[in-house]
Amino acid sequence: MSLVERAIKKLQESAANSSAPPRPSSAGRVVEVAPQPVAAAETSPLRPHVERPTRIVNIDKEALRAMRLMPPTAMERRAASQYQRIKRPLVAAARGKSDPPIENGHLVMLASALPGEGKTFTSINLALSLAREKDLEVLLVDADVAKPHVSRVLGVEAERGLLDLLTDSSLHPESVILGSNVPGLTILPAGKHTEMATELLASERMHEVAAELAASSGGRRIVLFDSPPLLLSTESQALISSIGQVVLIVRAESTPRSAVLSAIETLGDSKPISLILNQSSIEPDAGHYGYGSYGDAGVSEAGS
Ligand SMILES: Nc1ncnc2c1ncn2[C@@H]1O[C@H](COP(=O)(O)OP(=O)(O)OP(=O)(O)O)[C@@H](O)[C@H]1O
Ligand SMILES: [Mg+2]
Repeated sequence: MSLVERAIKKLQESAANSSAPPRPSSAGRVVEVAPQPVAAAETSPLRPHVERPTRIVNIDKEALRAMRLMPPTAMERRAASQYQRIKRPLVAAARGKSDPPIENGHLVMLASALPGEGKTFTSINLALSLAREKDLEVLLVDADVAKPHVSRVLGVEAERGLLDLLTDSSLHPESVILGSNVPGLTILPAGKHTEMATELLASERMHEVAAELAASSGGRRIVLFDSPPLLLSTESQALISSIGQVVLIVRAESTPRSAVLSAIETLGDSKPISLILNQSSIEPDAGHYGYGSYGDAGVSEAGS
């Protein structure tokens, strides 16, 4: 057994033996609020009567940490600077300032070849980081419609969402989008499951919904789609034609090279793809993305 394998085993054993409190089942709660006035600057001739969502998700960051979907407080600074590095090119693309410009660059799909590579973790943490940007709103869409992790974690699994918008063309996205207690962050849950999910995600209606999501924010919104694994689902492949760019999450020292190559092949060459090397124990340099996890830091310390 290698040093790293021994260290992982030790960590697993200590986790199993520890008397840590049980993880919370949800890190969010929906509350109803009175309609909020919207600043005149946010209205336009196309949408003169904008209202803020009246259903708000109260996101509990401590619960997210306990669910291991946010870095622990001790790692927060380091993680924040890594997400800042990751979001910069995404923000440039969303504002039409990338070189070359990316068509619909504000529609970003978080993808990975296999399950468990960190799409949901990255979607949540990137969304929280993007929400801090000035003049930008972020909409986190749970497009993992078969296993709606974001919706479950935020306690909005029973709310209307993406699939309802796709099934019912009379529904307007803004009537379904939930606000949140995090300024600048809104949420679109996965919605009511249907066997037709893949067909709906590949439909013309999905293109319309994606366009409306962007248009109704007056160009201020960046939309993150958390998606299912590319090689194990048809839903994520169906989504590709509606988005502008893909962020492919690769779990360091875990995802086989062949799986990454197959995922890239599946994505095709119609959309720009950025890579995030997730849970790497190597510090990123200026040339590439990376986000090392506290978990791996623990392993390398234990192995050194
Ligand atoms: N950067 C990270 N640092 C620490 N832990 C991480 C990181 N990325 C992912 N994880 C952990 O890895 C696990 C899997 O992550 P996540 O649920 O985000 O994967 P996923 O790609 O969304 O999986 P699925 O395809 O099943 O939806 C989670 O328990 C999360 O805590
Ligand atoms: Mg996920």
